[in-house]
Amino acid sequence: MNEPIPVNEPLLDGNEKKYLLECIDSGWISSEGPFVRRFEEEFAATVGRAHAVAVCNGTAALDAAVAALDLKPGDEIILPTFTIISCITQIVRSGAKPVLVDSDPVTWNMDVNQIADRITAKTRAIMVVHIYGLPVDMDRVLELARQHGLAVLEDAAEMHGQTYRGRPCGSFGDLSTFSFYPNKHVTTGEGGMIVTDDPRLAARLRSLRNLCFQPTRRFVHEELGWNLRMTSLQAALGVAQLERLGEAVRRKRAMGRQYNELLAGIPGLTLPPVAADYAESIYWVYGVLLEDRVPFDAEAMMKRLGALHIGTRPFFWCMHEQPVLRRLGWFEGERYPVAERMARRGFYVPSGLALRPEQAERVAVAVRSILTEAVG
Ligand SMILES: Cc1ncc(COP(=O)(O)O)c(C=O)c1O
Repeated sequence: MNEPIPVNEPLLDGNEKKYLLECIDSGWISSEGPFVRRFEEEFAATVGRAHAVAVCNGTAALDAAVAALDLKPGDEIILPTFTIISCITQIVRSGAKPVLVDSDPVTWNMDVNQIADRITAKTRAIMVVHIYGLPVDMDRVLELARQHGLAVLEDAAEMHGQTYRGRPCGSFGDLSTFSFYPNKHVTTGEGGMIVTDDPRLAARLRSLRNLCFQPTRRFVHEELGWNLRMTSLQAALGVAQLERLGEAVRRKRAMGRQYNELLAGIPGLTLPPVAADYAESIYWVYGVLLEDRVPFDAEAMMKRLGALHIGTRPFFWCMHEQPVLRRLGWFEGERYPVAERMARRGFYVPSGLALRPEQAERVAVAVRSILTEAVG
């Protein structure tokens, strides 16, 4: 009865084993061999892009995408404060300036109304990050980018299978990135992808991914790159997972609807946004917020659920509140109240693809009983 419910458990019940065995039987286990190219081609087709470059994780995808912009010290990139550290690391390392915007309390994504005021003569790009379930309102972003001649980086790590006004997420950025960590709708264990329609950017990313080896004089380097290569084993998993993407999206939405019903009306609990006029939530994770009247924060709530063997994760911690970035001198005195509140009051409940309905029921019973006791 009280078996632990993990915060995430992937589903690997398609052709994963078959394709992995093909790798082992054929000996193709490095980044060479047919699966990486096949995964890239099939992934590019899924999101409607001309090129896809597979890498070893979603953070590496963002690092390479930012590196491909050739930022100069002082260049500025606008991004949400409420995101994962992966979005900002290469911006900071390249000497450029990260410029933050707060979250929208309705969609939980970056507040697109705050972007225009943050654009200066030094702005080079807007990095959008689709968070948890709904996409960012892309029309607004694309219009600003067009008006000001800015690049758009789209972090679609959490948005496999999601669309914005019917177009796939990952089809909007000059460069768009994905993660294949096991809590994603498509997993390769660890893995990432950068997609683009620009053949020059694709070639540059392939070079950055592969240590900037040169085609003719392999070990003579004009530039410093990284080894970000994805292995055949990862790509084999990815090809199998991609075959089941539609099913993954259906399962996640069914899970979201079940939680919406089970958690409705619990005192002190705010449920995640269900839809915007441009998309229905994909429930990458099922996140909730504790209202201010709950006399404890998300951390305390997660401890209480943990005592009942229910796995949870906190929401992201804002970039302007990251000790490492504050020590570097960034974001002194900056405040982003919506994102700060989400970081303190938000967490997500078990929401992996393998979650069973009866597990979601147990989660809901536990959440209801803790909050009814606290504020009911
Ligand atoms: C929005 C977002 N971007 C980037 C990443 C980083 O991906 P990875 O864990 O594959 O490095 C994640 C990871 O969950 C994410 O949620």
